[in-house]
Amino acid sequence: MPDPRLSTGARTDDDAQFEVGLRPRTLDEYIGQDRVRENLVVSITAARQRHEALDHVLLYGPPGLGKTTLAYVIGNELGVPVRSTSGPVLEKPGDLAAMLTTLKEREVLFIDEIHRMPATIEEILYPAMEDYELDIVIGQGPSARSVKVPVQKFTLIGATTRAGLLTSPLRGRFGIVHRLDFYRESDLEEIVRRSARILGVTISGEAAAELARRSRGTPRIVNRLLRRVRDYAQVRANGDITLEVAHAGLELLEVDEHGFDEVDRKLLRTIIDKFGGGPVGINSIAAAISEEKDAIEDIYEPYLIQVGFLDRTPRGRVASRLAYEYFGLPAPGRDSRLW
Ligand SMILES: Nc1ncnc2c1ncn2[C@@H]1O[C@H](COP(=O)(O)OP(=O)(O)O)[C@@H](O)[C@H]1O
Ligand SMILES: [Mg+2]
Repeated sequence: MPDPRLSTGARTDDDAQFEVGLRPRTLDEYIGQDRVRENLVVSITAARQRHEALDHVLLYGPPGLGKTTLAYVIGNELGVPVRSTSGPVLEKPGDLAAMLTTLKEREVLFIDEIHRMPATIEEILYPAMEDYELDIVIGQGPSARSVKVPVQKFTLIGATTRAGLLTSPLRGRFGIVHRLDFYRESDLEEIVRRSARILGVTISGEAAAELARRSRGTPRIVNRLLRRVRDYAQVRANGDITLEVAHAGLELLEVDEHGFDEVDRKLLRTIIDKFGGGPVGINSIAAAISEEKDAIEDIYEPYLIQVGFLDRTPRGRVASRLAYEYFGLPAPGRDSRLW
């Protein structure tokens, strides 16, 4: 059985242990995402020159592309500490109020999975972001009154897998909004070579390119494949990752040449076999393959769409000609822009 989590961008405990050491700390070390990086250099430099807090930043994109990493990089480049929390962890308005009131000027508050913040908490965030004050309600019923508590001029960095899940008032309060895209193979190669250096393992250029090709445009996955192949090299070879070792290791892991795993294959195959290639709604797909709708939309779909195996149409998801070819199936004749 291949490990079903091997090729998803979602973070596992195993990743967590390694990722801290592999995280770039500065914008110079942060590989790829050139447009985002260049924009941030300008924003950060300007804020530093004016001795002001950086505008609030929203980072969005599929899991494993470097949102959390970038939040810490921004804090580091600003020369301020980053306080970190996440949407699901914040339960009561008081949880957030406590964090906000202890922030010092220009410090960063990072809220991961910001789309999962309860609405009651979101509301106290609005005045904090806009006017740097909190509206706190004291008491209940007719005697309730609201008091304003100032907060220091801080920077909120929010991260989310899908910006579409944010309410528009929240989204509108971020001055800087960046989408992280899947990485180019050349960037992933550079990332995997850097990680190999940090882990103290020798990897050939060809092997690095092979891992890059199979990692779904995702740094987290390329680092994960590196760790697995490193194990293989240690146990079955002399420890160095050559192209041969990389191939053998990846084969054992059942990562295919596109980096697809079982769920990707099941998803495409189901659309083809059960739904005539689509269009089919996401809920029907989720039910048919027993996966969460959110996981499909956050983790699997974005990459399948990016590489052109799947299309999202107003009437539902459609398997493309590439998907049929991948399974060695004849593509049905049809009238669609994908064909
Ligand atoms: N631009 C990058 N350059 C080098 N390594 C990166 C980059 N982006 C991400 N990584 C690596 O990938 C891992 C996952 O990144 P992370 O920031 O946790 O992703 P996200 O928060 O978007 O899910 C990090 O630990 C880091 O090692
Ligand atoms: Mg993250």
